This record gives sequence, C-alpha cells and structure tokens, in this order.
Amino acid sequence: MVRQRMHPPAYFRCVVSERFSYYRVAGRRRLADLAGAVRDGLGSRPYSIPPRFFYDDAGSALFEEICSLPEYYPTRTEAGILGSVRRELAGLLGGRFRLVELGSGHSTKTRRVLDALEDAGPGTEYVPIDISDVVEAGAGSLVDDYPRVAVTGVVDTYEGGLALVRGMDGPPNLVAFLGSSLGNMYPDESVAFLGMVRSMMRPGDMFLLGLDLAKDKSVLEAAYNDSAGVTARFNLNALHRINRELGADFEVSRFSHQAPYNADGGRIEMYLVSEADQTVRIPGAGITLRLRPGDRIHTENSYKYTVPQIRMMARDAGFAVRRLWRDDNELFSVTLMEPA
Ligand code: AVJ
Repeated sequence: MVRQRMHPPAYFRCVVSERFSYYRVAGRRRLADLAGAVRDGLGSRPYSIPPRFFYDDAGSALFEEICSLPEYYPTRTEAGILGSVRRELAGLLGGRFRLVELGSGHSTKTRRVLDALEDAGPGTEYVPIDISDVVEAGAGSLVDDYPRVAVTGVVDTYEGGLALVRGMDGPPNLVAFLGSSLGNMYPDESVAFLGMVRSMMRPGDMFLLGLDLAKDKSVLEAAYNDSAGVTARFNLNALHRINRELGADFEVSRFSHQAPYNADGGRIEMYLVSEADQTVRIPGAGITLRLRPGDRIHTENSYKYTVPQIRMMARDAGFAVRRLWRDDNELFSVTLMEPA
C-alpha cells in the first residue's frame, strides 16, 4: 500500500533546555516493522534480515563498542580525516552553516565537523536526524561540550527530517552522512538515496559523505571478525531481538557469525549460520523456519568503494564534488559536494 501524504506531517516539539529541543513526528511512521520484515526475509530462501533491525538498545550499545575496537578502523580513521582537514573544510564552507546530520546515533563523529563549522562562523546550529530515540541521549552531552551550539533534533525518517529542515530559515545547510552508513545499500539504492538527499537541498547547501574504501581483504575481514567477538554479538543480537519482540525461540548459541569479503561485489557480507538441524518458531511473524547445518541468514552488506565509484555515484545523483579527502593509508574517504 502506498500512503500519500497530502499535508506535511505534524511534529511534537520537545524542549529539553534552552539550547536543546527536538521534533518528533506525530503518529510515528512505523519504519521498524519487524514482523513484516521477518516474514519477508525468513519466509523463503535466501534467508535475510534487514540490518536496520540491529539497532535496538543492546545493538546500538554493541555498535558503539565496535567503533572503538582495534580492528574496526572506519570510525577513528574518519574522525582523523575530519580533524586534519578542519581548516580546509572551514575555508571551503566560507561562512555559517547549519549542520544537518543523517543517522546521528550517539553524535560522536559529529564533533569534528562542528569544530570546522565553529571555525567557519560563530553560533552554529546542529540538527541531528534519526529514526530512533537516540537523538535525545546522543545530542545531550554534545550540548554541554559545545556551549555555542544550539541543537534542534528530529526523530523521523531522513526524508521527513530533511523536508522539515528545508523549511527552516537561517544559514544554508551542511548535510552530513558519515560512518559509511550508505554502505548498507545496494548501488542502485545508494544513488536513489543520494538523489533524494539532493532533491531536499537548496542552492548553497553542501553535502558531506563519509565512505569506506575498497582495500585488502585481510584488513576488511579483520574489521568485521574482531578478536573480542563484539561484531559476532552485534550480529547475533538480531536473533535475541526477534525472540523478544516476536516471541520466537531461536537458540542463539546454535548460530555462528560469518563476515566474508566479496571482492567481486565490493562488499562485506554478514551472515548468521545455523550450526545444527533445527526448527525455529516465530509466532509474531507467523512462520516456522527449518534449518540445516550451514544454512545462512544474510544480515548485512557493507559496501567498500573506489574513488571512481564515489565520483560516479555523486555525479549520477546530481552532485558536483568539491573535494575528496582520504587518510594517508587510503582506508577511508570524506567527500564534500554541492548540488550540481
Ligand atoms: C554502520 C553500516 C557503517 O557497515 O561497518 C559494523 C555496521 N556492521 N560492523 C559497517 C557494522 C558490522 C557499519 N555501518
């Protein structure tokens, strides 16, 4: 069913403090329809669960833990790039911008961008957009650490949040999508998504995109198969969540984590692998799953890009690249673009 919105959706505004408020969409569009997604993904082969269901409270905490693992280079490498290009980024922006962050999560990566914006012009506004309630907790500590930044969060879809932001007065927007979150999407979906972002931007707005780069298989596989087993717990948490929310009886200890690099596809693929002959009932999705040893449930793709691929995606989505930065080891990229 396609639901047409004739009017802009209503938002509640929650005021946390003088410098911190957020909008929450009324009626809460149910993006997280776990039951429907599980019925679709586990109802027939090849089995899959969409990666957005990783991020319940436990999963979000595990993801934060992943970000500081020694093997998981993306987070710290991206922060390093943003830190070292701070002056240059401020110069390219050349004035005041409102920072609009898609998928802000705990707002940790945000800080390096805010530093550059504070250099570019005083009195920055920060708009974190996230579908989950993490906006309040995530931006809370940032408000304390950045006394000149006003935070106006949005709890809604990216598209809904961008539409809300487009109607705001004030400085142009620097839209940021960091951490290689785009990597969860297939290439055609990525271009469509970037095109949607582009369509929500006004002349003078800019876009900052952080993407992980294609590299040696051993480095990539280590990042998704860490020795402390945190990524495995993050992956397996999807089954705990389905048990809890859909009344399923997954025996989580009978599954293992697998994350091979598919070099031809240019992506890490994550799977949960059945270690036994087993039958799993999932009443909340109305299905029963019969698994043999070795049967796999696909849970995530994480695309790794080459520089030409990044430039092509940007162009196909209607952006002009202003600058593409990489770290010295060419592990990660940050690209500044503007509507073409
Ligand atoms: C949040 C999608 C960027 O793909 O690296 C980390 C998620 N999965 N370890 C990534 C993830 C396993 C992460 N993204």
